[in-house]
Amino acid sequence: MALTLPKVIGHRGACAYAPENTLESLHAASDLNVTWVEFDVKLTSDGIPVLFHDDTLERTTNGSGNMADTPYAELQNLECGSWFADSFTGIKIPTLEEAVEVCLQHDLGMNVEFKPCPGREKETAEIALDHLSQIWDENDKLLISSFQHVCLEAARDMMPDWNRGLLLGGEELDPKWKDLADYLDVKTVNVGSNLAKREVIEDIIDEDLHPLIYTVNDPMEARKYQSWGVASMFSDCPDVIAENLLTVH
Ligand code: G3P
Ligand code: MG
Repeated sequence: MALTLPKVIGHRGACAYAPENTLESLHAASDLNVTWVEFDVKLTSDGIPVLFHDDTLERTTNGSGNMADTPYAELQNLECGSWFADSFTGIKIPTLEEAVEVCLQHDLGMNVEFKPCPGREKETAEIALDHLSQIWDENDKLLISSFQHVCLEAARDMMPDWNRGLLLGGEELDPKWKDLADYLDVKTVNVGSNLAKREVIEDIIDEDLHPLIYTVNDPMEARKYQSWGVASMFSDCPDVIAENLLTVH
């Protein structure tokens, strides 16, 4: 399946401007003329896919405990905006379906990152893919990614035509990344900026894969990556990065 990536993808929506992984953050990205957004998906205890980054609720909500132990009905009593700014007090954790509706409304491409709670890798991917397959049919504007190989394996098996991206993080590059990329049949390799050395980017390109880098908020850094041939960068402030990239390589 063809994949048309923009130079900049809004990270967790546009999370410098609105609380991460919320509908407000997706709207903010669209207001900035961003064409693609990335967001994180995990399951509530009762198996509802929601947009959320951490395994625990404390950092971004007024609740506490593990997402994996919290049913959706309880999540609806929480708010996830006031940690970011008073003006966002009261907003709710969105479901994957609500997020997709907003993306459709604004014609946003989506990088859906499966971010399972520990031990829930397979079911997170399977349930989220099942939901997505019922509501999304613009395959060239969808990228499924994960650090968890089990999630990408499930995506490859369930939705072979959907584009996948292998996320690489940590302090050192996984020496098996080429084998993994091949086995998981991915189109992109999404590397953390600390791992993004020129040789790594060139290696990814040599494998006929698209190199993506997260998270790039510094325009000078972005121009350097652009000169290396990086396909796309994730940014919390995608407008700032887009404005500072050269239009011609
Ligand atoms: O998908 C890129 C990036 O979102 C991966 O890291 O922790 O921000 O989800 P994280
Ligand atoms: Mg993410």
